[in-house]
Amino acid sequence: MNTAKTLLASLLIGGALGILAGCSGDVASEAATTPDNIESEQEKSPIRQDAEMNAFIDDLMEKMTLEEKVGQLNLLTSNWDRTGPTMKEDYKKDIRAGRVGAIFNAFTADYTRGLQKIAVEETRLGIPLLFGYDVIHGHRTIFPVSIGESASWDLGAIEQAARIAAIEASAEGVHWTFAPMVDIARDPRWGRISEGAGEDVFLATEIAKARIRGFQGDDLSDTDTVLACAKHYAAYGAAQAGRDYHTTDMSERELFSTYLPPFEAAVEEGVATFMTAFNDLNGVPASASNYLLNDLLKDQWGFDGFVVTDYTSINELVPHGYARDENHAAELAINAGVDMDMQGATFYEHMSGLVEEGRVAEDRVDDAVRRILEMKYRLGLFEDPYRYSNKARQQEFVYKDEHLRAATEMAKKSMVLLKNQNDTLPLRKNDLSIALIGPLADSKEDMIGSWSAAGDRYERPVTLLEGIREKVGDSVEINYAKGASYEFDSKGSASGFKEAIEKAQQSDVIVLAMGEKWNMTGEAASRTSLDMPGNQLALMKELKKLNKPMILVLMSGRPMTLTWEDRNLDAILEAWYPGTMAGVAVADVLFGDYNPSGKLTSTFPRTVGQVPIYYNMKNTGRPYEPEGAEQKYRSRYLSTPNEPLYPFGYGLSYTTFEYTNLTLGADTVTMGDTLTVSVDVTNTGDRSGEEVVQLYVRDVTGSVTRPVKELKGFRKISLEQGERKTVEFTLSEEDLSFYRADMSYGAEPGQFTVFVGSSSRDVLEAGFKLVSNK
Ligand code: NOJ
Repeated sequence: MNTAKTLLASLLIGGALGILAGCSGDVASEAATTPDNIESEQEKSPIRQDAEMNAFIDDLMEKMTLEEKVGQLNLLTSNWDRTGPTMKEDYKKDIRAGRVGAIFNAFTADYTRGLQKIAVEETRLGIPLLFGYDVIHGHRTIFPVSIGESASWDLGAIEQAARIAAIEASAEGVHWTFAPMVDIARDPRWGRISEGAGEDVFLATEIAKARIRGFQGDDLSDTDTVLACAKHYAAYGAAQAGRDYHTTDMSERELFSTYLPPFEAAVEEGVATFMTAFNDLNGVPASASNYLLNDLLKDQWGFDGFVVTDYTSINELVPHGYARDENHAAELAINAGVDMDMQGATFYEHMSGLVEEGRVAEDRVDDAVRRILEMKYRLGLFEDPYRYSNKARQQEFVYKDEHLRAATEMAKKSMVLLKNQNDTLPLRKNDLSIALIGPLADSKEDMIGSWSAAGDRYERPVTLLEGIREKVGDSVEINYAKGASYEFDSKGSASGFKEAIEKAQQSDVIVLAMGEKWNMTGEAASRTSLDMPGNQLALMKELKKLNKPMILVLMSGRPMTLTWEDRNLDAILEAWYPGTMAGVAVADVLFGDYNPSGKLTSTFPRTVGQVPIYYNMKNTGRPYEPEGAEQKYRSRYLSTPNEPLYPFGYGLSYTTFEYTNLTLGADTVTMGDTLTVSVDVTNTGDRSGEEVVQLYVRDVTGSVTRPVKELKGFRKISLEQGERKTVEFTLSEEDLSFYRADMSYGAEPGQFTVFVGSSSRDVLEAGFKLVSNK
């Protein structure tokens, strides 16, 4: 903390809160950056810093009336943006009345400064507002949708994407992002699968931590960091039938093994806030779950940040059938451990009365207020409430070239090559004509996908048509036609087909830019079919008759069912929604200036009837037998193989990699010791490339049944043509641990299988025995 902060804090402690209310942001920020005043942060121990903060907050809270305290617990949306069903028009009046602690859906330096000024100058205590926003995969510069980013398996790049998002958002007055979403999702019907990091616990946990590091940086008091929020706690991704907001019901073991680890890791990583989920979990809505919030999160895991609900999820306790009315709902939620009510105004309406009636202890309100004030303090808002609303920084950082370059790189890394028969890709850059066809070929609007925060959807995004033209100029002929529509109601129509077929007839190859419209994934975007929406497949079938090489650039925020496409097309590139720089990145991949290296983080089923399908299922007592064996009375479908179309971890490259010499450091390992696993990976193709080397483990027999494989490590390596590298992993007891029959966590002696390979399907395997050390 610098001296200016100490000085201002002591003035405030001395009761001179009016000083803060009276000073303009400029004055405060000038004082905060005077070099002479700067005292190294290292000189003050965390304990001393905390002691100062506690003294400051104690003093402030002593001055607060119950109404003022309750005010801090309310988060209301501004009318700048709207991300939910309701809107409270008079939020400015509420700020002025000291009835709001935080505002969301507000950004830009000017706008946030204006609202902050009301809070600071026009309320009795001048307590600054906290500004939250959904900065999910970029703020202005938009990166690929989160599921796409996860397919890069590049934790450094993912952290950097979150860092850039924080730099841009904080320069526009945002203090707090509602990200990362750390929900494990295994049902692609659920539209929000696009917001997460896929189906696997190990990978999603690493990605959650990387995103938190990126958003929060090293020090929350740096003006380019924002508070992160682990959401949606808990098990929202397991909504029954993939229908958004639907019920979740699961065993405690499944909850702890699959859905909670990323949340627990978020606490360990120091995440500042948690958001409750909309769903009911095992009969108790998550926003009123004493077990999830008080017992587990706060008591057991020691979370010391604050818990916000999702949008009106306290009010929704009534239709859930859990609360009699909103008054009861507010009581249940705060007593369960909720600290802040997002948009529902249930605390706003009922909290003071609940305290007066003795149904809510004032201590509980105090605890919630303290948690919120602490975050405001850590951000430095009491020192300078306007420090984030900085027009100069906004101008400097928003859409900075460096950010656009990082977004291009991330987009390339996220793309997954699903098929590439006869090396159809990459395309040559001259002496070629391309028919570029599809509703996503020249649609700026779609490029940045859903939850794209403050990203410009209409001007900036580079479309495929633009990106390809920019790359190849006149040396390649581009014959563009939209041809088809992704709108659901276009099924059956063939308008546009004629032009597309003509363009295809004039061309050597057909590049299809098809998939889902941007808002077909994200919140409230569940689907019962995972096919290409609209008349896109019908057009593909017509074009197929021309017998020309066909390449699909797929844009989607979820796994889709691509059985026809896989059988009939020559190449398929999953590009997700690549972000602001979409067209540049796709063109680089199509023409081979970037060699794809992405790997799926969600299984692609053959048909929606296989869902939920994920790689780490259990074996069952009657597993499907290899080809040729008797299959009756086996765990399988009559009509479809059990295997997915494209498994978890799968993705091709323009080169090829060979795995050899899987070696374990020992055949027998004693509990507490580690095991070295090594494998040689050789680039056997004709160009350099990157490969994600994946390590999986199976515990063959346990006190409870164990999955057929579980990811326990990965390395992204780069190999020149002909180069070989030995990749080494170390397995520890922790990697072999799980929730045992009695729900204790640990490893069990016995036989294990280790798999290393290029996907969850394509692996080498070896075995070892774990023995007790007793
Ligand atoms: C509802 C969504 O579920 C949540 O993820 C989001 O952060 C809030 N709305 C705020 O927009």
